[in-house]
This record gives sequence, C-alpha cells and structure tokens, in this order.
Amino acid sequence: MDRSFCIAPMMRRTDRHFRYLCSLLSKESTLFSEMIHANAINRNHPERFLNNSGISNDTVLQIGGSCPEELKKATLIANEYDYSEINLNLGCPSSKVQSGNFGAVLMKDVNLVKKCLSEIIKVSAKEVSVKIRLGVDDSDINEGLDYFIEELSKIGVNTFYVHARIALLKGLDPKENRTIPPLNYERVFQVKEDFDHLNIIINGGIEDFKMAKDKFFKLDGMMVGRAAYDLPFKLFDVDQIFFNSTKTNNSLLSVIDEMFEYIDTLNFKDEIKTKFHMLNLFKGLKYAKKSRLLLLSNDKNDKIKRELKDILLESEIKAA
Ligand SMILES: Cc1cc2nc3c(=O)[nH]c(=O)nc-3n(C[C@H](O)[C@H](O)[C@H](O)COP(=O)(O)O)c2cc1C
Repeated sequence: MDRSFCIAPMMRRTDRHFRYLCSLLSKESTLFSEMIHANAINRNHPERFLNNSGISNDTVLQIGGSCPEELKKATLIANEYDYSEINLNLGCPSSKVQSGNFGAVLMKDVNLVKKCLSEIIKVSAKEVSVKIRLGVDDSDINEGLDYFIEELSKIGVNTFYVHARIALLKGLDPKENRTIPPLNYERVFQVKEDFDHLNIIINGGIEDFKMAKDKFFKLDGMMVGRAAYDLPFKLFDVDQIFFNSTKTNNSLLSVIDEMFEYIDTLNFKDEIKTKFHMLNLFKGLKYAKKSRLLLLSNDKNDKIKRELKDILLESEIKAA
C-alpha cells in the first residue's frame, strides 16, 4: 500500500460520502473512515458503518475501543468489507472518548494496547496499524515514545500514523488539542531514524502539499485532515504531485455530474450529508456563497446541479 498521501480520519466528516467525493478528486490517495467504536460495529447493522462500496482507493478502517474481545469481534466483521487496513485510534483526546477509556488515553497503558492489538492482529485479514500522538499529558516524548513504538512493533505493528503533537487530556477540548500543543515534526523525523524498518506517516498542520512533499521526503507518507476537508479542490493536484499519475483527469464539472449521479442513489438523510460535504468544493470561486446556498436549498437536485454548473462556467477558476 502506498501511503504517500492519506486523508485523515475525521468524525462526522470522512464518512462514505466524503470519501466518495475524495475518490473523484484523487484516485491514489489513501482514505480513512471516521473512528468507529468496536461496539457500534458489533451491535448494530455493521453495513451502516462499514459500507465502502463505489470507492476504489485504498481505504483504512479506523476503530476505537479498549476491550480486546470487542475489538476482535469487530475485526472479524470488518474482514467482510473492502478495507485495506485496520487502524486503532490511540490519539483522540475528547473527554467522552477518555471516559470510555479509548483513544489517546490508551497511550498511558502500553500493556492494554498490546492486548488489544494482539487480538486484532490474530484475526485481521488486513494489515493493522495505529494512529498515535507524540505523547499524552506529561508523558516522556523521547524514551517513553520510543518504548511505546518498540513494544507495538514487537507484536507486529509496522505502520504508525503520528500526529506530531502531544495531547493534553485535561483542560483542552479536541479542537484546542489540534492547535495548542505545538507541532514537533523533528521528533517524528527522529522516530523514523530510530525505527527505519517501520512505516512512519506524519500528520498535523500540513497545508501546502508540494512543500510538504519536499519537507517529509524521508518519511513514508503524510496524512492531511483539515486542509483536505476545508479545501477539497486542492486534492485535484495530489495524484500528480505524489504519484506522478494523471489517472484523475476529472474536472470540477464532471465531479459535479458524478456527485449528483451518486446522490440519486441515496436516501434523504445521506443526500443531505453528501451535499454538506460538497459545500467547500466551491471555496475561492467568485460565486462561492451562491453555490453554498444552492446546495443548502430545497430545490430539486436537477436544478441545483444545472445552476452549479452554470456558476462554474461563469466563474474565474478554470473548471474544465
Ligand atoms: C472534525 C475532526 C474530527 C476528527 N476525528 C478524528 C477521528 O475520528 N479519528 C482520529 O484519529 N483523528 C480524528 N481527528 C484528527 C485528525 O485525524 C488529524 O489528526 C488532525 O486534524 C491533525 O491533522 P490536520 O492538521 O491535517 O487537520 C479529527 C479532526 C477533526 C478536525
């Protein structure tokens, strides 16, 4: 799997509909699901959470949890779906997630993490990876982090997505935890030097993809979250920059056609979600506000599509 450019897991964002949009913009990026708790997979209709149909990009399923048995059960179910990798979330700092004893708080308990991962690895049909922070609260981000990675690598985890900042579990909400603790890319470079045999993918604050390619060339890839969601238009450049590929020769006009074809297959609730994910597609265009209002309107889809295309054709940005 080529992880040169990955689109980060984001709750309420990287659902199947946003992933479908991403797949039209970049054929080569690795996509991530939102974090899905093991019990959501085990208890409810799993296809509600796991459906990834229509997406040909490598897609990583991110799961959350800290009960080895539950994680094992969820993995067995996930084996039936077309994901390329299973990823355990060890980086989410939200208080709700902490109180459920999963996400970033697990970085404080390497033995429990090993138990969880061992059960997942035992049954997974796919590679198993983790997404981590540099540390949590006052944990040691030098030897402590090395020890954590070393221990996980001993049980067969070879791929680490590293959000290049610590998480502070008390006093900061998740949003603040994505901005206030400073980014420390140097520490991630050091991890790669010390663990050359592992796949180390860097995450956090990446906005300029071309610059990032040069800056992070020693690593095994990068993961981009907010910049991909807030400006999906930029994903058009990814295949060319990172994969020297022109497989995605879609234009914004053809993306709109394909998105509305896709929307026609959805129920009303999913249709609304999908249109919401499309709102940022038009950022920067002269008529961005008009496009957003159209997507939020109750107009018939045919009319919305037609008017969006008219707007694009009139707009300053090259649409085709
Ligand atoms: C709205 C939102 C939801 C997120 N949900 C998840 C999640 O479900 N799992 C996870 O590992 N990280 C989650 N993250 C963190 C991102 O994956 C990423 O690590 C973080 O945003 C830093 O990358 P960026 O600076 O490129 O956005 C979320 C981030 C945002 C903005």
